[in-house]
Amino acid sequence: MQTHDILRLLIEVAMRVGKHIKAQQAGVMLQDISYKGKHDLVTETDKQVEAALVEALGTLLPGSGFLTEEQTVGYQEREYVWVIDPIDGTSNFIHGVPFFSISIALKHQGESILGLVYDVMRDECFYASKGAGAFLNGQVIHCSYNRILDKAMIGTGMPYSDYSKLDAYMSCLKDLLQQTRAVRRLGSAALDLCYVAAGRFDAFYEYGLKEYDVAAGALIVEEAGGRVVDFRGGNQFNASSTLLATNSLVHDDMLRIIQTHFK
Ligand code: IPD
Ligand code: CA
Ligand code: CA
Repeated sequence: MQTHDILRLLIEVAMRVGKHIKAQQAGVMLQDISYKGKHDLVTETDKQVEAALVEALGTLLPGSGFLTEEQTVGYQEREYVWVIDPIDGTSNFIHGVPFFSISIALKHQGESILGLVYDVMRDECFYASKGAGAFLNGQVIHCSYNRILDKAMIGTGMPYSDYSKLDAYMSCLKDLLQQTRAVRRLGSAALDLCYVAAGRFDAFYEYGLKEYDVAAGALIVEEAGGRVVDFRGGNQFNASSTLLATNSLVHDDMLRIIQTHFK
């Protein structure tokens, strides 16, 4: 099957499953919530959605493997691997804050070739395939053209479970609050990345991320003309758990400030 056919079917799957998440959002019950860590929550909906995606995507691409957050299926090393976060922004989902997404990437021989992030509450579907640009609901998107840090809108994710770099994070934030127009913490890293791709944010940074949080969004940013690196400036953002995504024009300024604090 051609990549664009896989993408078309992937969008259909995400839309269908998204309807289920939206329907569940109004009524998350206490008994549906369990704890993976002190502040790291999961609901029955996360698991149901993941299982539905695994079934649908396994049928879409027979023989493909999976890397999923909730591990409803074990990791399988295959030529094609789906990287899935069924609900990115579970805390928002639980508290009725309407900002969360489905995040799905497809890797071929270790390289991301497709990425989709679906904001189910706003019905905004961001997607990209390698070398073919980035889109929001069928329209081409591009990162912002702002090169002045002082005019930049920055997204971030705040530490909520891994506090190992908390001091560095806080001193970096203090600098950025003074050197940028504004800093926002919206609560879904996958969508934050798409906001960089769509030119809504000029940059986004966070530490403590996992591959399923960022694989799809990172490809969408790159296909929208942006840059994605780890805090050392390399390309290990999937493995290193640190990530900076920018419109490419404020990249050097952002990386310099981050590296002043994260040694
Ligand atoms: C989380 C969200 C959040 C980010 C965390 C992620 P989850 O994902 O993306 O914005 O700050 O680092 O773990 O747990 O809701 O899938
Ligand atoms: Ca996540
Ligand atoms: Ca999740």
